[in-house]
Amino acid sequence: MDFESYDVLVVGGGLAGLRAAIAAVEANPRVRVGMVSKVYPMRSHTVSAEGGAAAVMRPEDSYETHAFDTIKGSDYLADQEVVEAFVREAPVEIIQMEHWGCPWSRDPDGKISVRPFGGMTTWRTCFAADKSGFHMLHTVFQTSLKYPQIARHDEAFVTKLLIEDSRCVGVVALDIRTGRFDAITAKSVILATGGLGRVYAFTTNGNICTGDGMALAYRAGVGLKDMEMVQFHPTGLPFTGILITEAVRGEGGYLLNNEGERFLKRYVPNKMELGPRDIISRAMITEFEAGRGFDGPHGKYMHLDVRHLGEKMIDRKLPFMRELGREFVGIDIVKDPIPVRPVQHYMMGGVDADISGVTPILGLYAAGECANVGLNGGNRLGSNSLSECLVFGAAAGRHAAQYASTAKPVSANPVDAMLWDEARRVESGYLEKKDGHERMGAIREEMQREMDAGAGVFRTKEGLAKLIRQLGGLRERFERVKIEDSSRTFNTELLAALELDFMLEVSQTIAVSALAREESRGAHARRDFPERDDAKFLQHTLAFRRESARPRLEYRDVHITNFQPQARTY
Ligand code: FUM
Repeated sequence: MDFESYDVLVVGGGLAGLRAAIAAVEANPRVRVGMVSKVYPMRSHTVSAEGGAAAVMRPEDSYETHAFDTIKGSDYLADQEVVEAFVREAPVEIIQMEHWGCPWSRDPDGKISVRPFGGMTTWRTCFAADKSGFHMLHTVFQTSLKYPQIARHDEAFVTKLLIEDSRCVGVVALDIRTGRFDAITAKSVILATGGLGRVYAFTTNGNICTGDGMALAYRAGVGLKDMEMVQFHPTGLPFTGILITEAVRGEGGYLLNNEGERFLKRYVPNKMELGPRDIISRAMITEFEAGRGFDGPHGKYMHLDVRHLGEKMIDRKLPFMRELGREFVGIDIVKDPIPVRPVQHYMMGGVDADISGVTPILGLYAAGECANVGLNGGNRLGSNSLSECLVFGAAAGRHAAQYASTAKPVSANPVDAMLWDEARRVESGYLEKKDGHERMGAIREEMQREMDAGAGVFRTKEGLAKLIRQLGGLRERFERVKIEDSSRTFNTELLAALELDFMLEVSQTIAVSALAREESRGAHARRDFPERDDAKFLQHTLAFRRESARPRLEYRDVHITNFQPQARTY
């Protein structure tokens, strides 16, 4: 059988994936790059990023300060040499984006504008109004079109990594339009599939964020690192979970409780609205519990007030927020406060990878939100993520291209058999299965509700232990799931089942890793262990898959270079 075959194959068409593809061909113009994405690239979740990308852009700023802010923000769980490399590369990437045509917002003197963001000691977030992700994604997408060496497989869903002799040699992908299974082989494969927010009910993440890349790597034997570290953004719109960008607070918006009080003075007095996300989210829940939240049809919320900023400023810097208020809440943020509450937003944890995206499997790389290269530790600072996608997407692309130019070709023989096995697994497990009776939507909704309840902003031993049991029960029910649509063309029910399978897998790693971390650090807040415990837990968690059993955990020391852990106050 003939397969499409590449030197480098990128899975995922968002910012990290496209940046990786471009970096690969720029590193070696002879390299042929394939890109496979379950959606058209401009529909990747990057498109919804709003606030901006952090980088040292002004003489009054410094790499050291950006590194320190990031490391302190991570609650000292970041690997410090990774952070130090990141802060140096981020400005290079921002300028590169400028050269590729990114329409950054500008100061009157023509410089790329910067705005303040949470946990950063100075203004360093570059932005394109409040649609930064859209413009950045558009920029790399258009740039990728320049390169004939990059071939795309849009709307193809990767169900399995091909591993031969402990080496990753490609993927099996379901072509969504035809329902055909294809093997796409490559000397190196880069996972850049984004986050897993849809394991929660209340999330800023798009429907496509189902942890696919994490589950693929995990099933292939790679550890998932620090999965207990889940970020909750303080300001999501109740009900929809749509993100109200931190830039609203960066530009001067206030968070108010039901007494009209800027309650953050009790929690982050020196930073107020520009405190880090983990602490502000906890502050909001604590206020809710003390009866100082507003009550609404979708639960408790706070007010985010920008009325004092004025219409002109709002329309110039936050026009999309005004549109969101109008379309999704029926308010005009120029005249009305915005209802907000903490919402799952980002996954610090992910596929265990090093500074170049190298994973423990030869030929397999990971970058962007699906990876954990050691940058974000226990809590990511807002606006470091878009820069992370650029810096580590590029690093993975370069390394993968270099490796591919010396790696031996992929042989067709075992690939043929692996493709056949995988196609049969999906066909018999889903499409031809006649005895299923469990409703997929019911399992998914229960998983999301239970994740919200058991692995939310605050956690307890009892809550996590219960969650693990519930997820186990859902996994058993999933084995009896009923797929009513057995057709091949655009079978979205089958896709939803494959995604749910992945989500159940990664959810269990969150719960098990969180139960074992008996301390509070960054976004992982245990009510029963409220203190950080550096003596026991200045370590990364690694979760490994076991057949029919809970994940096995290992620990790995955090790399400290120049910043000794200290109390984290703001
Ligand atoms: O609030 C925001 O605009 C989110 C930014 C980020 O997660 O980096």
